[in-house]
Amino acid sequence: MKIISSIEELRDQLRGQLRTAFVPTMGNLHEGHLSLMRLARRHGDPVVASIFVNRLQFGPNEDFDKYPRTFQADVEKLEKEGVYVLFAPTEKDLYPEPQAYRVQPPNDLGDILEGEFRPGFFNGVSTVVLKLFSCVQPRVAVFGKKDYQQLMIIRNMAKQFALPTEIVAAETWRAEDGLALSSRNGYLSEAERAEAPILYQTLQQVAEQVRSGRQDMKAIEQQAMDSLSARQWQPDYVSIRKRVNLQAPTAEDLDNKAELVVLTAAKLGGTRLIDNLEI
Ligand code: PAJ
Repeated sequence: MKIISSIEELRDQLRGQLRTAFVPTMGNLHEGHLSLMRLARRHGDPVVASIFVNRLQFGPNEDFDKYPRTFQADVEKLEKEGVYVLFAPTEKDLYPEPQAYRVQPPNDLGDILEGEFRPGFFNGVSTVVLKLFSCVQPRVAVFGKKDYQQLMIIRNMAKQFALPTEIVAAETWRAEDGLALSSRNGYLSEAERAEAPILYQTLQQVAEQVRSGRQDMKAIEQQAMDSLSARQWQPDYVSIRKRVNLQAPTAEDLDNKAELVVLTAAKLGGTRLIDNLEI
């Protein structure tokens, strides 16, 4: 595997490649990330991964400084997956001057759910992803459903800017007890780790309620929030949305059997976890 940090070298290395499949990450790789590499390999060749902890997408009081950086271990994992190039730019390589031009997602997608609780987050994500796409020029890029809203925003960005990159979605990879794998799980204490699967169980309960025909979405959401709060969680939201645009379903949407997804974000101790489940 070639490890490249400069944009120019990356371009040289990938010149003439028409079927590149790309997986952007922030490192601290786990099985979830590696499942994306495997999916990428089915969609193209060569597979290019990136590791870059993107300052633009972290709020002033978020965990940019303490975000886990495990470069050597990551390199070994990617080598085993047959990744051809790892693009690992420094901040100077990717942002040699302040990134003044930004991609601003539309408010109705970028300022809801995660965007409401993490202002500027999707601006930072979209901006770095567009820039990484411009560096790698992939035919396909793979994103996880774990970050459902991010996947949708990147998809819409690619469509609206007519990017020549197809966005492929990967299923969420979970631990045996249901907890979605995440780099931030490493922040959990042993007791918190034992509690953490409750988040997914809560989503499953919501999904069951909806499938059983209940139409009072707000009440179901509130019940789920209350049951999390009763167990020491601090939920930001539990929201049942339409998959197509992440807006709340109307009664008519429910009658028309609109496809739904339930999304959640909640803090357990000092760690903020997100998860979602298609209903
Ligand atoms: P990161 O959190 O490192 O995630 C990189 C990719 O792995 C994303 O597409 C994410 O959805 C996917 N992923 C994470 N956990 C997963 C799991 N348990 N199952 C399946 N896929 C999973 O998301 C980012 O980095 C950044 O925002 C990035 C897109 C790289 C831009 O900086």
